[in-house]
Amino acid sequence: MAPKRNDAAPDAVAAEACCEPERIQKFLARAGVGSRRSAEQMISDGRVSVNGAVVVTPGMKVRPGVDDVCLDGCPVEAPRELRYLMLNKPAGVVTTLDDPQGRPTVAGFMPADGPRLFPVGRLDLATTGLLLLTNDGELAHALMHPRHHVEKVYRAEVDGVPDAEDIRRLEEGIELDDGLTAPARAVLVEVLDGRAIVHLTLREGRKRQVRRMLSSVGHPVLELCRIAYGPLPLGELAEGAVRELVDDEVAQLRAAAGGAG
Ligand code: URA
Repeated sequence: MAPKRNDAAPDAVAAEACCEPERIQKFLARAGVGSRRSAEQMISDGRVSVNGAVVVTPGMKVRPGVDDVCLDGCPVEAPRELRYLMLNKPAGVVTTLDDPQGRPTVAGFMPADGPRLFPVGRLDLATTGLLLLTNDGELAHALMHPRHHVEKVYRAEVDGVPDAEDIRRLEEGIELDDGLTAPARAVLVEVLDGRAIVHLTLREGRKRQVRRMLSSVGHPVLELCRIAYGPLPLGELAEGAVRELVDDEVAQLRAAAGGAG
């Protein structure tokens, strides 16, 4: 049976609040379903119900832990404390929470007792390095939004040694099959025996972008590690290790994401 529509005044559901009521879109964003804006869209699409009635008022308030909020008919758990982790993803680990092929996933690195966290963006199976995990859907969305140009720094070990012209092309833009890449920073850091280390700083995040850019200048990637995400460096975090971000790091991420949250 289709849920009835909820035309109650915005605060009606919160009338007997036993905990701090909050706007439905904030509740949904904190619950990790997406940003506040995408939650508003879900509401306008009639996908959200509270206590069995479809929400029609985006400003409506709900009582976390008391009101029964559903998205597409599935209960949305009351948001718990927001958590922010940094993982140094090892190679061979898939950046999803569940892999139909049974490969190890980033879910295996999350604290067993905590809330369900989601990766912020993706790293390829073979890529190692900094991956943020959080249940703060709003910040995650803002960090990945192209408008905020959040920088990601990659350390690539490449075949051969890029010359000045290759570096110039990497920086100015490369025509890939999905279009011209945005201006980037490329630094030849070290020359090894027939190989080199390049640091590439990107402000966009297309699929396998670093690998494709370096291949297209004739220097395929042999190993790839993300060494910074926005203001946060990977630092000395060992491969496979995970740590909680401190408040100041979360504040820095928010600032980099245009003040999200
Ligand atoms: N670019 C890539 O090519 N791979 C990654 O994992 C991340 C960025």
